[in-house]
Amino acid sequence: MSRIAPSILSADFACLGDAVATVAPEADLLHVDVMDGHFVPNLTIGPPVVKSLRRRTDLYFDCHLMVDNPGDFLEDFAAAGANGCTVHAELDDVTSLFGEMRRLGLDVGLAVNPETPLEAALPHLAHIDLLLLMTVHPGFGGQEFIADVMDKVKVARHEIDRGEVQVALQVDGGISEKTAPIAAAAGADTFVAGSAIFHADDPLKAAKRIRKAIA
Ligand code: DX5
Ligand code: ZN
Repeated sequence: MSRIAPSILSADFACLGDAVATVAPEADLLHVDVMDGHFVPNLTIGPPVVKSLRRRTDLYFDCHLMVDNPGDFLEDFAAAGANGCTVHAELDDVTSLFGEMRRLGLDVGLAVNPETPLEAALPHLAHIDLLLLMTVHPGFGGQEFIADVMDKVKVARHEIDRGEVQVALQVDGGISEKTAPIAAAAGADTFVAGSAIFHADDPLKAAKRIRKAIA
């Protein structure tokens, strides 16, 4: 089963609640990109925005934490209404972060940057709910899909199936109706799309087109 995760990074922040309501019928998860200006060279949003959005929707909130110190904020995200948090494999000691997420009732995600070997994530497969293979360098929406990452997607798909673990395989960055089928063929099952959805004239139709392209 493929799942679509619109990324609100490309939505109009001045009317975020309406933007989310517009895509909600086609959203299996809502992807929330959290950036700290250190781990990535951009600043975005944090728990107060998640809390406000939680009052507007029951959607699953998939919070992608591109920050140096996610451990300082996990409790705030859980309290704000996040369902899952994804931390980056490039950080030290992700294992203790997983423990903290479990304690808080958060689903556990692990993200891998394009230049980071998949080996950084494979030992954790039995302990996570979602593996995010970045298909752009994190930090900004609207970048071009890095097709070379498909080699890692294929290996990850194989390892997830071989290990019979319940791990969603997510791709994030440059996902559109053109690139989503490429990632689906490689084995991805969860598709984050920001600009392809929210920069479209009709975001709901754009999400539908991506779903149709991978069906
Ligand atoms: C990039 C973010 C992505 C971003 C994707 O650092 O992690 O989630 O929103 O945007 P698009 O779909 O425009 O590449
Ligand atoms: Zn993201």
